Amino acid sequence: MIGSNFILLIFLILLQFLDSCFSLPLCTDSRAPSTPKAKLDFCSNNGTSCCNNADDLRLKKQFESMNISDSDCASLLKSILCARCDQFSAEIFRVDSIPRPVPVLCNSTISANSTQSGQAKNDFCSKIWTTCRNVSVLNSPFSGSLQGRAGAPVVLNSTKLTEVWQSQKDFCDAFGGASDDESVCFNGEPVTLNSTGIPSPPSGMCLEKIGNGSYLNMAPHPDGSNRAFFSNQQGKIWLATIPNEESGETLELDESSPFLDLTDEVHFDTQFGMMGIAFHPKFSENGRFFASFNCDKAKWPECGGRCACNSDVNCDPSELGNDNGAQPCQYQTVIAEFTVNDTASQPSMATKAKPSEVRRVFTMGLPFTAHHGGQILFGPRDGYLYFMMGDGGGTGDPYNFSQNKKSLLGKIMRLDIDTTPSAKDISQLGLWGNYSIPKDNPYTIDADLQQEIWATGLRNPWRCSFDSTRPSYFMCADTGQDQYEEVDVITKYGNYGWRVYEGPSVYTPPTTPGGNTSAKFTSLIFPVMGYNHSDVNINEGSASITGGYFYRSMTDPCLYGRYLFADLYAGAIWAGTENPISSGNFSSNKLNFTCASDSPLKCNFSPGSSFPALSYIFSFGEDNNKNLYLLTNSGVYRIVRPSRCKYECAKEKDVKIESPGPVSSPPSKASRSRGPCKSLLALLSLLGLLLLNFV
Ligand SMILES: *[C@@H]1O[C@H](CO)[C@@H](O)[C@H](O)[C@H]1NC(C)=O
Ligand SMILES: *[C@@H]1O[C@H](CO)[C@@H](O)[C@H](O)[C@H]1NC(C)=O
Ligand SMILES: *[C@@H]1O[C@H](CO)[C@@H](O)[C@H](O)[C@H]1NC(C)=O
Ligand SMILES: *[C@@H]1O[C@H](CO)[C@@H](O)[C@H](O)[C@H]1NC(C)=O
Ligand SMILES: *[C@@H]1O[C@H](CO)[C@@H](O)[C@H](O)[C@H]1NC(C)=O
Ligand SMILES: *[C@@H]1O[C@H](CO)[C@@H](O)[C@H](O)[C@H]1NC(C)=O
Ligand SMILES: *[C@@H]1O[C@H](CO)[C@@H](O)[C@H](O)[C@H]1NC(C)=O
Ligand SMILES: *[C@@H]1O[C@H](CO)[C@@H](O)[C@H](O)[C@H]1NC(C)=O
Ligand SMILES: *[C@@H]1O[C@H](CO)[C@@H](O)[C@H](O)[C@H]1NC(C)=O
Ligand SMILES: *[C@@H]1O[C@H](CO)[C@@H](O)[C@H](O)[C@H]1NC(C)=O
Ligand SMILES: *[C@@H]1O[C@H](CO)[C@@H](O)[C@H](O)[C@H]1NC(C)=O
Ligand SMILES: *[C@@H]1O[C@H](CO)[C@@H](O)[C@H](O)[C@H]1NC(C)=O
Repeated sequence: MIGSNFILLIFLILLQFLDSCFSLPLCTDSRAPSTPKAKLDFCSNNGTSCCNNADDLRLKKQFESMNISDSDCASLLKSILCARCDQFSAEIFRVDSIPRPVPVLCNSTISANSTQSGQAKNDFCSKIWTTCRNVSVLNSPFSGSLQGRAGAPVVLNSTKLTEVWQSQKDFCDAFGGASDDESVCFNGEPVTLNSTGIPSPPSGMCLEKIGNGSYLNMAPHPDGSNRAFFSNQQGKIWLATIPNEESGETLELDESSPFLDLTDEVHFDTQFGMMGIAFHPKFSENGRFFASFNCDKAKWPECGGRCACNSDVNCDPSELGNDNGAQPCQYQTVIAEFTVNDTASQPSMATKAKPSEVRRVFTMGLPFTAHHGGQILFGPRDGYLYFMMGDGGGTGDPYNFSQNKKSLLGKIMRLDIDTTPSAKDISQLGLWGNYSIPKDNPYTIDADLQQEIWATGLRNPWRCSFDSTRPSYFMCADTGQDQYEEVDVITKYGNYGWRVYEGPSVYTPPTTPGGNTSAKFTSLIFPVMGYNHSDVNINEGSASITGGYFYRSMTDPCLYGRYLFADLYAGAIWAGTENPISSGNFSSNKLNFTCASDSPLKCNFSPGSSFPALSYIFSFGEDNNKNLYLLTNSGVYRIVRPSRCKYECAKEKDVKIESPGPVSSPPSKASRSRGPCKSLLALLSLLGLLLLNFV
């Protein structure tokens, strides 16, 4: 018997997963599907697949070892083995939960009223049962321990389903499940997503201006309250209280009393400064937070680190052009850990941080003065720190850093900041600071990769975010060179193509001291959205994309589920729409937007323009209620109800306006919006699985 505490524990663990779900073509190991070198022999593919030819051969062997005499049952079990190659395998194997040896089999009873696919297709679980129940199967995937590694069957003697399960109900309780709005089950065929009809573009986005300050970063307070941290490029972080919607009030932020002031350490210039802030997921208990900034080693001795241009990556620092007269690697990119001032009784009550670094996490010298991203974000599912790094500058990535697997430039990194390595580990592994490498980083797939790397081939990722409803949607905007600004869905080991491609087109760099790079890359991942420089009216400089968020607030229901992004210079904003939902196929429209006439702070309008003059759009921000903000050179703007700007949105009338809660009290867990992906039934079926295994 299992103790009830144990069940409770499992229950709590499972509850954690309820908020998250996948979709978009994604494999069980978080990678994007790719095109196998040769057409798959056993598990046929019509294009991209989650299996390569070696996986295919392995599945074929596994199938043969099952020695199934009944041909109908054999063909069903083959389809189940090959489900691992499906483009949506992460989805049908529900990889967020306990690893499953088989996908979720579409089960009729709970989905009889489901809108997805017809009744017949949803009977796959009972079809397996009726066809296979009396058939002997060696090494049956259904007898494999559900705790075991997915896809690695426990070697068992010949079994029939009826020897393990009493009835179809028992069997389908264990393996069945249904499709719901945001997740699909396996019905024996490749997963297809139904188009729900393309929603018409929103008629416009309504803004209110709530602050005057110019900030690069906004991070909601991890305690769930209506507070958020804002930081500027010069190096200050403030803790602010966000006014309730419709209150007419402005951001409560005391410029003269920052939470932390690093302006003495931070090197501030056009593309230099405090680039990112990230608060530990358990900040409310441990008070830990991180700042990513640039410094000048000529001015601050603690700024020194290894140069990103070195012999490991075929780069000779003495050959670097003296950009702005600087010495090579004079400027560094740094991540440092800080903590709250311990005079506060609890970290979440703290209004000040200790000014000195607790720990230097990362230091790397930069070859040029541009393109070094610098955003840091905690992964909502894994708790690791993602660090966005550009190609280091220079037109056309002259040293081929972004494609070079030994360089951390032009990469997205994933670091474990909870496990501090020993000095010996740091030197043996050649780390750039005090962090550890997560065990499932992609170097485990490709030994040539530096261990920090999560994704490659970026130019200058400028603002990434995780969809708060579907954390597998890790969206990054990547700034282009001459033509195209792109939005990418970042996946493990993904190569986003720069400098071989700029957006969808082949790119030829003007100078290549590092040599020429051929376009012979088999599995580059192309952008899901973007725009040409010719699509925007640019007054100065070139276009430059600013990535935003999936809009997940019901304040403007017509924007719900759209991914928002902008051009930094042109004051243009787009809404990306995914259709079918969860497919990873996006289209985008430029949005009309304006300011509410009752905006707490008045917006400026250029003469003759119906668009407010926002000046540079540096970033977007999201608060704990999922409302979105624009952080611009002219101030902070919040997206509000469309009717306040007289924009038409039929759905707005259906949304009940919640009465504002008391200031600075964390919202209760129950009132936080839960992703629509996982039903309680899914939870119960998982519990059923566990009981089966442990009782
Ligand atoms: C490939 O395409 C054929 C014909 O369109 C279809 O019958 C088959 O199911 C597809 N197979 C896969 C694995 O998508
Ligand atoms: C496979 O099944 C056949 C009969 O269906 C049997 O003769 C043979 O011994 C089986 N092979 C193994 C390895 O069990
Ligand atoms: C399912 O459909 C049946 C008949 O079509 C209906 O009577 C029943 O109320 C529906 N159940 C749910 C939960 O919608
Ligand atoms: C999904 O597609 C199937 C087959 O084309 C169709 O029968 C079903 O009605 C569609 N469902 C929705 C929600 O569009
Ligand atoms: C399976 O066995 C049961 C009882 O042993 C029998 O009633 C049923 O007809 C068999 N089904 C098949 C498909 O052989
Ligand atoms: C497999 O068969 C052998 C010999 O009959 C038996 O000793 C063993 O317990 C069986 N294993 C399982 C897991 O049923
Ligand atoms: C699957 O269907 C069976 C009946 O065939 C039902 O008893 C069971 O509750 C369903 N399980 C799930 C997880 O939907
Ligand atoms: C945006 O505004 C312009 C001018 O007011 C109008 O012509 C256009 O139709 C609007 N676009 C949308 C999507 O409503
Ligand atoms: C914003 O700026 C305006 C004009 O400089 C000033 O009057 C106002 O007090 C400022 N408001 C806030 C909240 O800082
Ligand atoms: C903590 O805050 C108190 C009050 O603001 C201040 O006196 C003290 O110097 C701070 N300590 C540190 C280490 O910053
Ligand atoms: C690790 O952190 C300590 C304390 O901040 C610092 O002195 C040391 O230089 C760091 N090591 C590396 C490799 O950055
Ligand atoms: C650029 O990097 C790619 C990937 O490491 C490599 O295949 C190519 O040869 C490199 N090109 C040059 C000129 O170094």
